[in-house]
Amino acid sequence: MSKDAVFEKKHVVSVRDFSTSDIEIVLDRAEEMLPILGGKKEGNSLEGKILANLFFEPSTRTMLSFEAAMKRLSGQTIGFANPEVSSVKKGETLADTIRVASSYADIVVLRHPQEGAATLASKFSTTPVINAGDGAGQHPTQTLLDLFTIRKERGDISDNHIGIAGDLKYGRTVHSLTQALAMYDTELTFLAPSSLQMPREILRKLDEGGIQYWLKDDIGDAISELDVLYVTRIQRERFPNEEEYLHVASSYNINLETVENAKESLVIMHPLPRVDEISPEVDNTDYARYFEQAANGIPIRMALLELLLGVN
Ligand code: NCD
Repeated sequence: MSKDAVFEKKHVVSVRDFSTSDIEIVLDRAEEMLPILGGKKEGNSLEGKILANLFFEPSTRTMLSFEAAMKRLSGQTIGFANPEVSSVKKGETLADTIRVASSYADIVVLRHPQEGAATLASKFSTTPVINAGDGAGQHPTQTLLDLFTIRKERGDISDNHIGIAGDLKYGRTVHSLTQALAMYDTELTFLAPSSLQMPREILRKLDEGGIQYWLKDDIGDAISELDVLYVTRIQRERFPNEEEYLHVASSYNINLETVENAKESLVIMHPLPRVDEISPEVDNTDYARYFEQAANGIPIRMALLELLLGVN
């Protein structure tokens, strides 16, 4: 059995579905997609395949990049970006929506506000389900593109001190990323106000794995040590009420002053969208890599789609 065969017809619900060698297979295959994106090679491996994008929550990058990835390989897409126009509005359950969508398409991509929605979908789907974000749970394909970006920009994923800043309580991108980084030899610093720190269950797993980490609330106390700074948005939509959100909103902002003591080689990442956590003045520095990071979503998703759809 070829190494790639382990992916065929599998669901991608959590980063825990991957080993480090699985991650390497996806990242290496993503590299192979670059000539197609550069117009140097034709991409037709997914001809005749259909992807269903089912987005029950807003999205720009994730939805568009799955669509673009599919089309770059000559596949097609169906779906909705707004559940208000689907039969969910009439009271249809997620299970029924998934049963039907999976009979129309070869692969289903689901974003949903409820944690666990992708796990449930995987039980009712007759085709692979990709979790494109389930509430505050997981966002595994974002993590793959984050790892791809770290490897590309730093040469390796291991041997980096990575600062993860922002809404670590509700942010699914940082939950997935932390669990993936725990499989490598990295040092981690979690930078957040104490009410938004990384959930205990995730920290417990780091303890079990012997990963070194620090909890801090001031980015200034860590910036000079970091090789990568991963910044996230405060997840307003996940707060129980507006008052709690306003209490921590705008609690930090990365600007030119913040990075004054940073290593010259510091890489700043952000899954986007940003609100006010990184000032636009940082965009023009050599630190900023968040737009390259977003672009990396295309080769990563092309690679993953080929692997799940059994293209060798
Ligand atoms: C993130 C998400 O949806 O979790 N966006 C993304 O997919 N790049 C981050 C966020 O919404 O803050």
